[in-house]
Amino acid sequence: MTTDPDQPRRRPDVPFLWGASTAAHQIEGNNIASDWWTREQRMPGMEPSGDAVDSYHRYTEDMRLLADAGLNAYRFSIEWARIEPEPGRFSRAELAHYRRMIDTAKGLGIEPVVTLHHFTTPAWFARNGGWHADDAVTRFRAYIERATSILGDVKFVATINEPNMLAMMVMLARAAAEGKLGQWQSPTTEDGMPTVLPAGDESTGNILVEAHHTARDVVRAETDAAVGWTVAGAALEALPGAEHRLESERWIREDLYLTAARDDDFIGVQSYSTMTLGPDGVVPTPDSPDNTLTGAAYRPDALGISARHAAEVTGLPVLVTENGIATSDDDRRIRYTDEALRGLFAAQSDGVDVLGYLHWSLLDNYEWGHWEPTFGLVSVDRETFERTPKPSLAWLGEVARNDGAEQRTTSPVVEPVETTAPTTEETR
Ligand code: BGC
Repeated sequence: MTTDPDQPRRRPDVPFLWGASTAAHQIEGNNIASDWWTREQRMPGMEPSGDAVDSYHRYTEDMRLLADAGLNAYRFSIEWARIEPEPGRFSRAELAHYRRMIDTAKGLGIEPVVTLHHFTTPAWFARNGGWHADDAVTRFRAYIERATSILGDVKFVATINEPNMLAMMVMLARAAAEGKLGQWQSPTTEDGMPTVLPAGDESTGNILVEAHHTARDVVRAETDAAVGWTVAGAALEALPGAEHRLESERWIREDLYLTAARDDDFIGVQSYSTMTLGPDGVVPTPDSPDNTLTGAAYRPDALGISARHAAEVTGLPVLVTENGIATSDDDRRIRYTDEALRGLFAAQSDGVDVLGYLHWSLLDNYEWGHWEPTFGLVSVDRETFERTPKPSLAWLGEVARNDGAEQRTTSPVVEPVETTAPTTEETR
C-alpha cells in the first residue's frame, strides 16, 4: 500500500502542540464490552478498572483543567467496544458522545488529537480470534469507517497506539491461552508476566501494519486530518559484545513499525526509558532506588534518543504523543519532564521536525491492571472522583505559555545515575 505521490503530506497549520494524553479504557470507567474488561475480571494479580476515574462523564472538567493551565492540545482515544459493542451494531449515541468531546475541546481552544485504537478491542472481536482472525482487518475497517464520520474537522488522527507493544500483548495472550507463557525464560512478576518484555512476533506486527494502512486510507478519504500511528520508542543501547544484535532487535521491537509509517503524515513518538541489549537479548533493568514506579530506569534522555531514531527511519515530522514518569514525587516528574524536553529540543536543533509534546498523562489513571503507578499531572480521588492538579500541571502550562523558551536554549542536564542513596521511590 503506497500513498499517491501527488498527494502532499498533510501538515495542519497549527502552533506547536503542548498538551497531555489519555486513553479511553484507562480513564472512562465501565468499558464493559471490551476485551480488557473481561481479562481484568479473571486474571490473577490484576486490579480491575471499574469506574476508572469516570472521565466518560467528567471529560469537560478534565479538558478545562488542561486548558486553564495553558496547554493547547489533548490526545484521547475513542473506544471501539462502545461504538460497536456487538458485531455490526454501531451505536450512534456513543459516536455522538465522542463528537461532543471533540466539540468540547475545540470550544476550549484545545486541539483534539484522536486515537482510534488504544490497546483494547471489543470482547466479541477477541472471542472471534482477535487480530489473527481472517476477517480482523475487514472488521477494523468497518469500525474506522464509522468512527471517521465524526472526525471530519479533526486535525490529527492516530490509528493504532503502540502497535509494537500491542503485538507483544497479542502474542502473550495467545501463549497464555495455550499454556505456553513459560517459554519466555526471564523471571516473572506476580501476574505471571515476564519482567523483560519480549518483542512481539513479526506475524502479528504485519497484521497490524495492514490494519494501519487500511485505517490510514479511510482517514485520508473521509477527513482532512494528518494521520499516523504512535510507536513505543525502544531507545536500545547495546552492551559491549552485543552490537551485532542491535539491528535485528531494533527491527522487531521498533523499526518494523517505523518503516511502515513512511507514507504517513507524522510519526507519534512515545518514550519513557531505555532498554539495554546484552549478547543474549534485552537484559532486565537492575533494581535501583532510582527506578520509577513501573521498575523502569530513570532515563529522561530516552525521549531525545527515540525522537531522533523515529525521524531518521521515517523521514517524518515527529509528534511526541506520550512521555512521562510513574512517580509519587511530583518534583521528580517536573525534573524528568524538563530534562526530556531539553533532549527533545536538542534533537530539534539538530534538524528533527517536532510538531508537539503531549505528556503522559493528564490524569492518574488505570495502568493496565494496576492503580499504583501514577503518571498524572492531576490526581484523582477514586471514591469521589475529585480532581486535584499537581504542581507539574501548572509547571507544564507555564512551559507551554513560554513555548519552551528555557528548554529550547539549554542542552540536557546529564545527571549521574543514583545507585546508593535511596530516594522516595520504590519499585513495585
Ligand atoms: C501506553 C499507555 C500506558 C503508558 C505507561 C504506554 O505504553 O500507551 O497506555 O499507560 O505507556 O505505561
